[in-house]
Amino acid sequence: MAVSSTASVLAAKTFGVTIDKLNKSFDGVPVLTDVSLEVRAGEIFVIMGPSGSGKSVLLKHVAGLERPTSGRVLIGDYDASDPATRDRVRLALVFQDGALFNSMSVYDNLALFPREHRLSNEAGVRERVMHALQILSLEKAVDQFPAELSGGMKKRVAIARALVTEPQLLLYDEPTSELDPVMAATISEIIATLREQTAVTTIVVSHDRDLAVAIADRIAILMDGRIRASGTAADFKHPADPAIANFLSPVIDLKNPRFKQLENDHE
Ligand SMILES: Nc1ncnc2c1ncn2[C@@H]1O[C@H](COP(=O)(O)OP(=O)(O)O)[C@@H](O)[C@H]1O
Ligand SMILES: [Mg+2]
Repeated sequence: MAVSSTASVLAAKTFGVTIDKLNKSFDGVPVLTDVSLEVRAGEIFVIMGPSGSGKSVLLKHVAGLERPTSGRVLIGDYDASDPATRDRVRLALVFQDGALFNSMSVYDNLALFPREHRLSNEAGVRERVMHALQILSLEKAVDQFPAELSGGMKKRVAIARALVTEPQLLLYDEPTSELDPVMAATISEIIATLREQTAVTTIVVSHDRDLAVAIADRIAILMDGRIRASGTAADFKHPADPAIANFLSPVIDLKNPRFKQLENDHE
């Protein structure tokens, strides 16, 4: 009895994330500069920024896949770059490309983690996998292979695979990229529903403004590896900062096109 009550307490626990003066350089080239953020337990925090601004690198630090050049990332009180943290916090990263194994069926992709960690016998694994597929309305895809799935289904399978681990911290890298607007809205609904049902702390990096406005408790904007601004969606309705306004609501100006300005910049 004692064991099962401990297990349920653990399952209910969620973690905040503290990013404290994080700096990261690759071969001396800075990619992240003095990034500080506080993500509260149970919230949906969306980090927006243009391509190349350092979003994926930042998320990998939270997942413990990159080590800071200086500064630190804490999950609760645990250092994200300490391998032992992975034993204390169940975190899952949904990669931009899904990172599914193409040679494995949907079932085997999802079963991989519980099998490797010997979380239960095969009947228990099946129960976990089918439950995750059911949450994402994917039961019919169970025997399909990644190559047979549409882009939206692949993203859903990648999310289902994260759910199998019963994460306490869920990280999404560009979950709506390369999807049509309806499928992108569906993924936003899934992210918000999962947080609603499990209170899982959720960090999303994305340049999808619609997603951020619809589901974020708070938003931060990352530009050139620095936090340019942070706040609620309402704070970004009429941004005073021209760089943020241009990023969130770019005006298509045929009289003074951007690619011509780029040309002039180099002259
Ligand atoms: N392992 C790495 N080695 C060297 N440079 C990297 C590495 N990973 C990312 N970068 C560089 O860091 C910058 C930010 O990359 P990234 O975080 O992927 O941007 P975003 O996800 O915002 O599009 C890019 O200039 C990229 O080339
Ligand atoms: Mg990226």
